[in-house]
Amino acid sequence: MRRRSSLHGDYPLFSTNSRKGKDTMLMNSIEFWAMNNPIRGLIQRYYEVPRLKRLSRGQADNILEVGCGQGVGARILYDCFSPRKYVGVDLDAKMINRARKKGQGLANAEFLQGDASSLALDDESFDLVVDFGIIHHIPNWQDALTEVHRTLKLNGEFLFEELSLETWEQGIGRPLKKILDHPYDRMFRQREFLDHLKALGFETETYEEKPVGFYYFWGKATKTR
Ligand SMILES: C[S@@+](CC[C@H](N)C(=O)[O-])C[C@H]1O[C@@H](n2cnc3c(N)ncnc32)[C@H](O)[C@@H]1O
Repeated sequence: MRRRSSLHGDYPLFSTNSRKGKDTMLMNSIEFWAMNNPIRGLIQRYYEVPRLKRLSRGQADNILEVGCGQGVGARILYDCFSPRKYVGVDLDAKMINRARKKGQGLANAEFLQGDASSLALDDESFDLVVDFGIIHHIPNWQDALTEVHRTLKLNGEFLFEELSLETWEQGIGRPLKKILDHPYDRMFRQREFLDHLKALGFETETYEEKPVGFYYFWGKATKTR
């Protein structure tokens, strides 16, 4: 495995098959850089969150963010939804450390290291769960969606932005596939993700986009049972 020690020593530079079959995987250093870049935060604040908020009820007392990354999303979610409590979970201890620093001063914000497919959180404890493009990182993604359903209150909302197998089969996704490390052999198609949500008891509203040839989908799922 090639590593770039000068940047973020624990993140492999390019994709590797060595993690095939495992149920968790961290980002490689290329994606780490892309996700810890100020531009990522600006896109989230001025494009992604306002658009998701317009789909939602626009108010949530208790928010869970799965794969909170560097914690930029937390501050934006506070600004947009004014929650009384927020929990951000990320698999990567380094991301949690960054998020705790960035999240200082946010009232009742907690950042926990954990696996979104097996959360140490109570049933039906959140009004809103947010996924800014992390579930495609999880080989056992069905378990992550089950956890979203379990931790959401009835009528609670799940706001998501996701990449899927379609992302890597077209446009700029093809070359990106070669340099990003994802569990492609166990990744969902968009239809599978939405069908799984439906089977769990969600009603969904979904949109697709392809800016500069990069395919992704986003939307809202409401827990109806
Ligand atoms: C593409 S980054 C997105 C980070 C952030 N949500 C954003 O939009 O900037 C994916 C994040 O998911 C985290 N992650 C990957 N697998 C995870 C899992 N099983 N449980 C929780 N977090 C996970 C990674 O550590 C990383 O921080």
